Amino acid sequence: MADLADRFRAVFGDAGAVRIVRAPGRVNLIGEHTDYNDGFVMPMALETAVRFALVPQDEPLVTLWSEQFGERGEFRLGEPEPADAPHWLRYPMKVAEVLAESRRAGMRGFRAVVDGDVPVGSGLSSSAAYEVASALALLTAAKPEVPAGPAAALAEAHGLSTGRLAALCQQAEHRVGIRCGIMDQFISLHGLAGHAILLDCRDLSFQAVPLPADRARVVVINSGVARRLSVGAYNERRRQCEEGVRLLRKFDKRVQALRDVSADLFGAHEAGLPEVVRRRCRHVITENARALESAEALRAGDLERFGRLMNASHDSLRDDYEVSGPELDLLVEIARGVEGVWGSRLTGAGFGGCTVTLARPEAVEPLRRAILARYPKETGLEPQIWDSEAADGAAIEV
Ligand code: GLA
Repeated sequence: MADLADRFRAVFGDAGAVRIVRAPGRVNLIGEHTDYNDGFVMPMALETAVRFALVPQDEPLVTLWSEQFGERGEFRLGEPEPADAPHWLRYPMKVAEVLAESRRAGMRGFRAVVDGDVPVGSGLSSSAAYEVASALALLTAAKPEVPAGPAAALAEAHGLSTGRLAALCQQAEHRVGIRCGIMDQFISLHGLAGHAILLDCRDLSFQAVPLPADRARVVVINSGVARRLSVGAYNERRRQCEEGVRLLRKFDKRVQALRDVSADLFGAHEAGLPEVVRRRCRHVITENARALESAEALRAGDLERFGRLMNASHDSLRDDYEVSGPELDLLVEIARGVEGVWGSRLTGAGFGGCTVTLARPEAVEPLRRAILARYPKETGLEPQIWDSEAADGAAIEV
């Protein structure tokens, strides 16, 4: 990325000391479609991120220049959304709205250049990164005295925990239209270099799980299939899970979410569930168990077991949850055929987007070659392949 402070001065002129905030995208290693079922996920933050270079302004006005869209947008804090607001402006507007409602941040306007290298619509959580970066920009503008450093100190200066901040950003996403869980916003704020995070989405307690980079690389492959139509399908999956909870609660009143349904309870009553609901529930219940077992396997250095769990996760997402597609299945199939690959699965919501593959370091090149030899020919699409590192979470950089 170009020096963002220079870009700020080129766009807005010399307006004073430029602050830079950053929030990363993520890849989820395992635990898919479990977060909104109060379950477990194990994502890691990526080095790709959304950044704002900003300078506070006295008017309650947020003026943004988007490098991606080559477009300027503006909104007034505390005022209703302008009818002609471009879609990209809705994210920071909704974040400002929920922050104001939480009555924590004494809001102040700012001008900023926004840039990012999280590929949009590829399932690496560009929108959560954008929401979290927007929140940090708003909080930094309101308290410019907070020095550079991890997001936690900034949140704390506003009387917020980073978990609460993640939940506020999640609410902002709900207002834009997807009833997402908390995984993406949470990992963007809590990522840790060299580690995945095992998160309990019910109480937001989490543990950092070290990734053995010398033995295993995390390879992210973008199918090039844009995640079209995914909003409706995602929200529909949520409703089906809720229906499962409603039906299974009849047998055990303690069931608040699919997280509370044991394999035994499910086994005893699954036959009475409508066919689709049964398969959706089966995915979530088995996926929660896989996420927990994966953390154990990683800690024990058992990459073979972890790989098997990743493979089982994909198969369950494909057959029971029905969020894969021919391109993601092909990427996974090719990867699994490469010597030295531990496991491969779709990552994120599905319906296009990316896969994640765990491979021995020496298998990364053969994997790349295998994908490039078959995937473009069979799909007409150009995949993007990243050998990824787990990065730190959101921060004020400057
Ligand atoms: C999207 C949502 C997350 C999560 C995943 C699926 O990324 O934003 O909350 O539900 O899909 O695991």
